[in-house]
Order: sequence, then C-alpha cells, then structure tokens
Amino acid sequence: GITRHYKFNITLKNVTRLCHTKSMVTVNGRFPGPRVIAREGDRLVVKVVNHVPNNISIHWHGIRQLRSGWADGPSYITQCPIQTNQSYVYNFTITGQRGTLLWHAHFSWLRATVYGPLIILPKPHVPYPFPKPHKEVTIMLDPEAIINQALQTGAGPNVSEAYTFNGLPGPLYNCSAKDDTYRLKVKPGKTYLLRLINAALNDELFFSIANHTVTVVEADASYVKPFETDLLLLGPGQTTNVLLKTKPLPPGASFYMLARPYNTGQGTFDNTTVAGVLEYEHPSSNKNATVFKPVLPPINATSAVSNFTRRFRSLANSQFPADVPQTVDKKFYFTVGLGNSPCPKNQTCQGPNGTKFAASVNNISMALPSTALLQSYFFKKSNGVFTTDFPSFPLHPFNYTGTPPNQTFVANGTKVVVLPFNTSAEVVLQDTSILGAESHPLHLHGYNFYVVAEGFGNFDPKNDTKKFNLVDPVERNTVGVPSGGWVAIRFRADNPGVWLMHCHFDVHLSWGLRMAWIVLDGPLPNQKLPPPPADLPKC
Ligand code: C2O
Repeated sequence: GITRHYKFNITLKNVTRLCHTKSMVTVNGRFPGPRVIAREGDRLVVKVVNHVPNNISIHWHGIRQLRSGWADGPSYITQCPIQTNQSYVYNFTITGQRGTLLWHAHFSWLRATVYGPLIILPKPHVPYPFPKPHKEVTIMLDPEAIINQALQTGAGPNVSEAYTFNGLPGPLYNCSAKDDTYRLKVKPGKTYLLRLINAALNDELFFSIANHTVTVVEADASYVKPFETDLLLLGPGQTTNVLLKTKPLPPGASFYMLARPYNTGQGTFDNTTVAGVLEYEHPSSNKNATVFKPVLPPINATSAVSNFTRRFRSLANSQFPADVPQTVDKKFYFTVGLGNSPCPKNQTCQGPNGTKFAASVNNISMALPSTALLQSYFFKKSNGVFTTDFPSFPLHPFNYTGTPPNQTFVANGTKVVVLPFNTSAEVVLQDTSILGAESHPLHLHGYNFYVVAEGFGNFDPKNDTKKFNLVDPVERNTVGVPSGGWVAIRFRADNPGVWLMHCHFDVHLSWGLRMAWIVLDGPLPNQKLPPPPADLPKC
C-alpha cells in the first residue's frame, strides 16, 4: 500500500438550504464534507486542524484500527478532543477491508454537519467479486438538521426539517432551489455501483428507486451474497453497496429515488421525504419528462424492515471466508433502551413525570469521563476515571410477557468490560421499548461482528441459540436491534484497546446509550497496542 495524506481544516461556513442560511462547522468549508478515498492496504494520514471555537474529534466509522486505537477518534474514549487552534494527525493503515464507510465528527452533536464518505477500493488489480461497474456513485442520506440551528453552539439540534441526498433536499420540500435536487444521470443498459451511506443523526431510512430493482453486494464494507430488492433500509452509520442495472430506456426517462424514515415511535420526529432523480441522459435538459415515484412502505413497517435485514448473508467463499466464532468464551446479555433519571435541581426536564430522559445498556447510562479512557487505561491511571464492573446482565430483569417493569430509572457510571485478547464474545442485545418504541442501531468501534440471529419478543437462550447461523452470517459494524426484539452478535476480541459500543442515534448516544470494552494486549509484540503519538490531544 501507499500513504495518502489529507488535511482537514475545521472551519465555519455559511451554508444555504431551503431558503435558510446557517453558519456551520465544516471540513475545508465543504458541506457535506470531502470524500476520503484509499485502497485496502494503504496508510491514511489525516491532519485535522481546529479553527472553530468548540472542540472536535474525527471518527473513521467502521475502520478496524488494528493496533491503532489512538486514531479511532471518539472524544473522551480514545482521545481528548482537539481544542481550538490545535491539531492532531490521524494515522492508520486499512487492513483487510474494502468497501464503503464514512467518517464523522465524534464530539457533542457535530456529526450533524461534519461527515463525509470514506471509500476503500480493493488492492491494485484485485477485482470486485461482481461484474465491474460502468461507474461508481456515492449517495449519502444525510443528517437532517441542516436548516434548524447554528450547530456550532454545541446545543442539540431541533427535530429535523429535511432529509437530503448528498446535502440536497430535493423537490418535495417547499422552497427548494432549482439546483437543490440530487440527479443521478445514467446511460441505458449499464451497471452502476451505488455506494449508499446513512449519515443521518437519528433516523433509519427506507430507500427506493421507482421502477428499478438493485442488487445488494456489500454492507458495512463487507461483501455479501448478492440479492435483489426494490427497497433498502439503512440505519445511521450503516452503508450498503448496490448494483443498479439501467434499462433500455430512451433519453429523458426520469425516476424518483426517495428516502424517508422507518419509525414505530410516538415521539416527535421528521417524517418527511427526500427525493432525488434518476435520469436517463438527455442532450438537452428534459423538463417535461414524467417522473415515476417509488412506493415506500408505511412509516412503521417493522415487517418490511425485518424481511429486508434477514436477507443479508456474508459472501463466505474461499476468497472471502466468514471467520465466525463457532464456540464462545464469554456470553453477554445486554438490554438496550430508553429510561429516565431524576431531574437535576434548577433544570426543567422533558422526560416522564418531569424526569430527565436517559438511555442505557443494562440499565447503566454511561457518563463520559473528563479524560480519555484509552489514555487512563494505557498509563494505568484508571482511578476515578472508570471501573471494570460493567454488568454482564441487566440490573433490572426484563420480560416482554410479564408486567412491564416500572423500574425505568438508570444508574449513571463509567463502567467497562475487560476482555482478554482473543476472547470470543457473544452479545445478545435485547430491546426493551419501555419508553418509546424504536430500534437502536448499535455500533461497535474497532471491530466487525457477525450477526448470528435476530428475533422478536424475549430472547430465549435455550431455543434461539439453536437457530444461530454460524455458517454465513452477515459481518457488520452497525446492526439494528429490532424494535420489540433482539439481535445476537459474535466477535473475536483480537484488537487491543478501548472500544466504544453505542446507539448510532445521536440523541440516544447523548442520553448515555453506550458502553466500552477494554481488550487486553496479546502475548506477542505485534498484538500489543503501541504507545500514543506525541501530538495526542490533552484534556
Ligand atoms: Cu459512527 Cu461512535 O460512531
């Protein structure tokens, strides 16, 4: 591999969408942010210089960061944030991965405007395991709060007013400017590789193109067994590559592509639809073309979601084998969900009965420390920073068939699970839906995991375990814990460091739906985490 250098200047920039102009935190003045592209085996060196009043850090979502945990990026987990007028160089090698990922800010709410595609091509002369596409196109389904709030204040964004494709809200919103629509221009009879990224803050999104089916070939930068579909669902942080084979249609034929949320909750959320246009190339612009619209399922169509997610299988062939742990050293059962905590004095709180909204894993809402976990672990200064007593089972037992638990209060803490090197771990993530009913896109840093099963209701250790797919389960870095159900994942702890696992809904993350794993060094020198780079920010 080669070394590729990028420079990210974090700057404020006035951005106009839907007739509003806002000052936003951006990378190099770009919104959405610049594309980072590399090949498998390359080293990426990204110098981030912070020119804005608030702190920031950048996360390379889905990159394994093998023995380079100092470059992972979540603030207060692997690094202290980069302060105003300071800089940090993210330096890491892309090992054993190729496909579509994303990068984004990992401090406060800044992911709303600071994000972009991270494209990893195969090694030189290594073909895709599918026909070579005529063209590759990246389509980001974006954060939605672009027009609401000056996000540099660090305050949370309001409920969104729009979704976008590559930053463009499209013709279905009021006050769309003419060039506010994303247009994908295609030729007939060709194959296009669409790299889809859900970079939204708080919404799983359905995606569909009128009159066209696509073939899914990759998820979260892992190849999958190809399957055809006319409907996709992506949770925030998830990526999906699809092949679009264009039809023998005349120039000017136009089709909407639409995205809008899946949501079973009763709360306030943005249920609007973003439209882009798939357009068969025409020499002159073809304003009067009929535009066909795809039909999206109802907004709360849980069955459409599970029908789709259950189709994913890893490629699991001799070139791309699935290395699924067949036996398990440690089993964990984590409840994930919303809860509440007492309202602090002198505050008004939005939660039930005037309490404060909180979210938790095993009823523990993770408080961020004031220094980074990885530093305090590495330099053996954990005292007062974190404890290693994160529970393997929930504090409050959970049961869908019994009386709903009235115990919704969470405990606060900074607790971690310590895993010896190479532990094979199984984690059952059980959604509790105690307050609200939403599925939670759970993201694990530093790893891919295999999704061995999912189901509705209570996880039943006796019978559900028998149904685990240990042959060709899909490999991902972010999985939706089904609303009212559970998902089981397995991974081998072969990457030493401190790794955050959290809900990729930014609002749930802020409420504490996160925990961290410490994976100990392995016995050999090349299985140890090296010391931090000299420019690692200080808190
Ligand atoms: Cu994409 Cu911890 O996040």
